[in-house]
Amino acid sequence: AAGPWEECFQAAVQLALRAGQIIRKALTEEKRVSTKTSAADLVTETDHLVEDLIISELRERFPSHRFIAEEAAASGAKCVLTHNPTWIIDPIDGTCNFVHRWLGTWGTEHDVAFTEGSSPALENPGEIPLPWAGGSRLLRSQCPPSQHTGLHALSRRFPTVAVSIGFAVRQELEFGVIYHCTEERLYTGRRGRGAFCNGQRLRVSGETDLSKALVLTEIGPKRDPATLKLFLSNMERLLHAKAHGVRVIGSSTLALCHLASGAADAYYQFGLHCWDLAAATVIIREAGGIVIDTSGGPLDLMACRVVAASTREMAMLIAQALQTINYGRDDEK
Ligand code: IPD
Repeated sequence: AAGPWEECFQAAVQLALRAGQIIRKALTEEKRVSTKTSAADLVTETDHLVEDLIISELRERFPSHRFIAEEAAASGAKCVLTHNPTWIIDPIDGTCNFVHRWLGTWGTEHDVAFTEGSSPALENPGEIPLPWAGGSRLLRSQCPPSQHTGLHALSRRFPTVAVSIGFAVRQELEFGVIYHCTEERLYTGRRGRGAFCNGQRLRVSGETDLSKALVLTEIGPKRDPATLKLFLSNMERLLHAKAHGVRVIGSSTLALCHLASGAADAYYQFGLHCWDLAAATVIIREAGGIVIDTSGGPLDLMACRVVAASTREMAMLIAQALQTINYGRDDEK
């Protein structure tokens, strides 16, 4: 039976898909990039456009609901999680990936530079050189953009980019929707009703042993020497504990989705925000995983820190290994 927030959930899915379309298109266009809290904390017109679209549509449909959203917060809006139904939105997670960036177009001199050494200049811009095949060419018509030719416009980007929409009522997370815009993967989780990716049920790996774990993290926006030292030393501690690997993909929400789907076994970060975490938390919990504070205590969505793992044992091992990096709280900014 449809739950009480069915209409909200359906609206979130529709808006995430629409936002994804806008982001996919914008990925291949030139972008104006500005910085926020640091030189590594980026924002574009598309972040604003998508956030405005999502919020204005939801506000019209659900006028009594509250909103917490990344770009509104950056412009000074307070992040307060009350008991009222609240949407927690990251319009583009992975903005740094989103802006990186190869702005050439099909059949220009840029294509020649890209294939340098393996293919002579293009006489016919309708042809696509295959750099790994000794200069062989395909006619563009033989090579649909959806195929991985290594030359499709999106493959010249770093396309690990998502839209994230979480929803909480009485301070409890009810559902989360995360859309991987370029791989067109829709992750959803609803409290008590499971987690899915494009309709397929998600399960965490169940791994308990840190020495068999693939661990994901993100760097966070602060880049001062003391913060970087702590960040690297945390990574070193996990590698000393013999984790198989520690990866940084540039999108906390999609990294958390990798954990939910069993592709990775754990995630930790200092400096992520409630909009990076809200939707993913429901998805991970519904996939059987654990999301806690880096102290080992219960998750505090506003505390800008998290350990998530396939099992409680794994989460505690990671929490114990970490040194704290202080980022302050989202609700005190
Ligand atoms: C950021 C990314 C980044 C992580 C930050 C996030 P944004 O989100 O996920 O990888 O290190 O903590 O805030 O700014 O791209 O939406």
